[in-house]
Amino acid sequence: MTDRYAVMGNPIAHSKSPRIHRLFAEQTGQDLTYEAILVPEDGLGQAVARFRDAGGKGLNITVPFKQKAWLLAEARSPRADRAGAVNTLWWREDGSLFGDNTDGVGLVRDLTRNHSVELEGRNILLLGAGGAAHAVLPALLETGPALLVIANRTAEKAVQLAERFADLGPLEGCGFPQLAGRSFDLVINATAAGIGGQVPDIPAETIGGDTCCYDMMYGDEPTAFVRWAETAGAGRALDGLGMLVEQAAESFFLWRGVRPDTAPVIKALR
Ligand code: ATR
Repeated sequence: MTDRYAVMGNPIAHSKSPRIHRLFAEQTGQDLTYEAILVPEDGLGQAVARFRDAGGKGLNITVPFKQKAWLLAEARSPRADRAGAVNTLWWREDGSLFGDNTDGVGLVRDLTRNHSVELEGRNILLLGAGGAAHAVLPALLETGPALLVIANRTAEKAVQLAERFADLGPLEGCGFPQLAGRSFDLVINATAAGIGGQVPDIPAETIGGDTCCYDMMYGDEPTAFVRWAETAGAGRALDGLGMLVEQAAESFFLWRGVRPDTAPVIKALR
């Protein structure tokens, strides 16, 4: 029987996840369907229950429901627990709803495998202290950076986030002005500034010719952060399309036990 999967979010019409998972299914010969479901702001619990009742096997959860999905899950993986957000759900054999988070591993795999970016021993700057930054922090710290600085428009939130994860590695939290005079090997944009076509207001010297800039956002056109990084003279400026495909591949693996080849899918989406 064909197994049913879906992504839930709001908005959801432009989600690339259905295409990605259909390409994975084709490539691996897995018999499944994958659709996009628009869920009203206060309707995640109901929508998930309805999907289960209709025979659904698993779900991806995207903006703005990842924290709600974390609460909804009856059990969670340690990495999802730590990330404070769930982007992958499935029903276990006993019928209970299990939550995981594949965003962090998706980011790290895109950086290290697809772009050959070294993380161990490097100075990393993570911009943003909201849900997106929080979710990828544990996986980033696991790679063993020399230092990870979280900088946020609202400095206090960065400081709090750094305190919360201090046990996982060398972390510092600050506001953008405190970045003056410092430079980094890797700068990751996890802010929502790009939604409005803006970029975080960080000092130009944080980026040099050897800096790799990575925007967790992606688009059909280069993102505002990618354009800004190129103009600022960054060695490399990458967007988050590969992260999207890598987090999807990890979800697919969790559901199906088969690991798809991401390279042809990233190529197809470009
Ligand atoms: P998400 O789940 O996408 O992380 P969020 O939890 O609402 O969404 O967090 C949004 C993040 O983007 C925050 O770090 C926010 O900074 P503040 O905490 O100061 O609000 C950041 N952000 C949004 N717009 C921004 C802008 N124009 N410049 C810099 N940072 C911005």
